[in-house]
Amino acid sequence: MSHFEQWLLMSEKYNRAMVRVSLAESVLARCSSGTGLIPIPQATAGTFAMMTARMKELLADRKPGYALEQAFYTDPDIFRTDMETIFYREWLFAIAACELEKSGSYVTHQVGAYGVIIVRGADGEIRAFHNTCRHRGSILCKSEKGNAPKLVCPYHQWTYELDGKLLWARDMGPDFDASQLGLRPVHCREVAGLIYICLAHEPPAFDAFADTIRPYLEPHDLGNAKVAAETTIVEKGNWKLVWENNRECYHCGGNHPGLCRAFSDDPRVTGASASDVPENLQKHHERMAAQNIPSEFQVGPDFQYRILRAPLLPGAKSFTMDLKPAVSRHMGRVSDVEAGTLMKYHYPTTWNHFLSDHAIVFRVTPLSPTETQVTTKWLVHKDAVEGQHYDLDRLTEVWTQTNEEDRRVVEDNQKGINSPAYEPGPYSELQESSVMEFVEWYVRTLSRRNESVMMEVA
Ligand code: FES
Ligand SMILES: [Fe+2]
Repeated sequence: MSHFEQWLLMSEKYNRAMVRVSLAESVLARCSSGTGLIPIPQATAGTFAMMTARMKELLADRKPGYALEQAFYTDPDIFRTDMETIFYREWLFAIAACELEKSGSYVTHQVGAYGVIIVRGADGEIRAFHNTCRHRGSILCKSEKGNAPKLVCPYHQWTYELDGKLLWARDMGPDFDASQLGLRPVHCREVAGLIYICLAHEPPAFDAFADTIRPYLEPHDLGNAKVAAETTIVEKGNWKLVWENNRECYHCGGNHPGLCRAFSDDPRVTGASASDVPENLQKHHERMAAQNIPSEFQVGPDFQYRILRAPLLPGAKSFTMDLKPAVSRHMGRVSDVEAGTLMKYHYPTTWNHFLSDHAIVFRVTPLSPTETQVTTKWLVHKDAVEGQHYDLDRLTEVWTQTNEEDRRVVEDNQKGINSPAYEPGPYSELQESSVMEFVEWYVRTLSRRNESVMMEVA
């Protein structure tokens, strides 16, 4: 049984909500016509209806500048609302495009109740589909990754083209119309070698984000990268705690000895804002601009995303214990070994570091109210050879250790919050302004979506 299924069973309130969903069904009937994209799940509007009064109360009681109430980190209903209002609605970073090397290469990804296949077609295009057969619903691709000339259902062998069209189904009679039974698509966009998916019927805007980050990523040439290493860990903490921890370096000095050799924990550098750029950061941006490498701070509406190139500590050239480059074969055209790190985040799923010699992409996937999967991939130039251009242990050591240290602090945070004695405490404006921005983005997104569903139901 998956984490998500275990959580569903645990949630008594969810079971109660399931019998109250008749209201939801009229909303769904309206949503599900048209493109074949799958609407939000059946319990959604009912759950929202039930959630709104409580959520409004919790949000009304919230003290800005303070951590969230316990329920936001523990409550199965709020977790479900997080999934339905955020993870089933927003653009989610899924994989690097280079992971799908050739036609038929595919990767599967589970987001809550949704299984998704991301596959490169014979035309080179990357598409995403729900991993659910149009016959009787079996899962189609069972492996995490693979290569297949066609997508063949393991149950009765219905066979789909890589672009989702149903190609073959045995003994279905003369009236059978295969053209109506292609795989259900999931919105899928590529930006500079990164693949994002969106499970919503109508996805939010993507172009402004893509246009902002594309020029920053282009010099790193992720299209000619490969995954040198990959790890997946489960942190026993709510997904928002994983993010809150990521959005500050207040904890770095006390917890990340390896990372702190190379990475500044000065909040004015790593958490820089457009209005407060310290001199060393400004100089770094000017130096990189002279090399035609974009570096300046850019931020999206509501702080949903941010991109910025920051210098590493003096003498540090990469995230390695000896501070020297991890890979001698550089990626892209960032030839300056002191280019520092291009830091990008995009809520709710990803933060990244792009250096002159390699890149690291992180993906956050909630599993339950108190479990979050964090996947890390180290990307190097596709022609870099292990043992010749890089040593795998040196390449991965700092962030493997940092992930483990972050897992520990997130789990400790969750354990403390689980206590009835927990009360939200104040954030440091100097050190935790990015955490506050994350919490504000979360609260605003939740409130906005709850309101719009309630209007739809009414
Ligand atoms: S469920 Fe897929 S072929 Fe029958
Ligand atoms: Fe950390």
